[in-house]
Amino acid sequence: MLPPVQRRAFLSTPIAALCAASMGAAKVKPAGKGRPIAVSSANGLETVKLAMDLVKKGHDPLDAAIAGVALVEADPNDHTVGLGGIPNEDGVVELDAAVMHGPTHGGGSVASLRNIKHPAAVARLVMKRTDHCLLVGEGALRFARAHGFPEENLLTEEARKIWLYWKETSSRNDDRIPPPADELDPEVRKFFGPDYVREYGTIHCSVLDTHGDLGCTTTTSGLYYKIPGRVGDSPILGAGLYLNNDVGTAGSTGRGEANLLNLSSFLAVEEMRRSGDKPLKDVLIECCKRIVATNRDKRLQDAKGRPNFNVNFYAIRKNGDFAGAALFAGPKMAVHDGDSARLVDCVPLFDEELKEI
Ligand code: GLY
Repeated sequence: MLPPVQRRAFLSTPIAALCAASMGAAKVKPAGKGRPIAVSSANGLETVKLAMDLVKKGHDPLDAAIAGVALVEADPNDHTVGLGGIPNEDGVVELDAAVMHGPTHGGGSVASLRNIKHPAAVARLVMKRTDHCLLVGEGALRFARAHGFPEENLLTEEARKIWLYWKETSSRNDDRIPPPADELDPEVRKFFGPDYVREYGTIHCSVLDTHGDLGCTTTTSGLYYKIPGRVGDSPILGAGLYLNNDVGTAGSTGRGEANLLNLSSFLAVEEMRRSGDKPLKDVLIECCKRIVATNRDKRLQDAKGRPNFNVNFYAIRKNGDFAGAALFAGPKMAVHDGDSARLVDCVPLFDEELKEI
């Protein structure tokens, strides 16, 4: 059973939206004998539960992953994905998402998509109903509309208040005045509390099904208060996700620019292939090291010359091994191994937690 907030969000989704969100899903086939695995970012505990339930019933691994992340896309309380995502600097929510399907080695993605709550499902249709891999902005919106995805305002009241407070407090001149502390909305105060970091958020989900086939998706509202049109790693095949059905699947959350500059998810899967049976966590740590080695901009370094941001990786090998890794300690990974779902620590390259960025 879903937790109350996600159940409410799911039940309040119009039928048309649910139909559009499942469009392009493959026919269900009898489940095989292999052990299925689903991994996700820390916000994906319910995601891996639903994905696992579906693959056990014979759903395609990509369709299971898309259905799993749709729970978070519809959750107004997750400010990093779908409905309720923190908007761009103009106060508009712009979503990025991509999918990859192991058996066909197909991929599709959308970037800077407005008004559509389930960008991962739109990305699946880009893969299945076009000869292209990536649609952006207005074109992606028209494509989604044409396929029956309903438009809605994705900026929740809470996200709007957070955005407005950010705008008021980051004004470089005196034309905006933030509210006095005692008048600050409690939700906004909580959001900007001591643990606040400028977030990249995002959810990734990778799935190995009972036939040994792979599927993965990454979906996000991207960097908080981004420049309108900024696209991160999530919709870029090879950067925010990648798979090779003979080898494994990987995806990432965190500072997208670092993954764009290193095609980190492709690197992870290619390193799995090249390295044979190297432990998967070591493969992912290699990807972290690559980011450190190429992060030459002093603006993005701490006093020790290390990145002043975090990047997290999640991966499954074809043989069912799974692992998570991160530059700095702290991030968790959601995993379902066929028996139970839990959060586990990502293996860090640096033992300390990232304090601020
Ligand atoms: N990794 C998500 C983003 O940078 O947009």
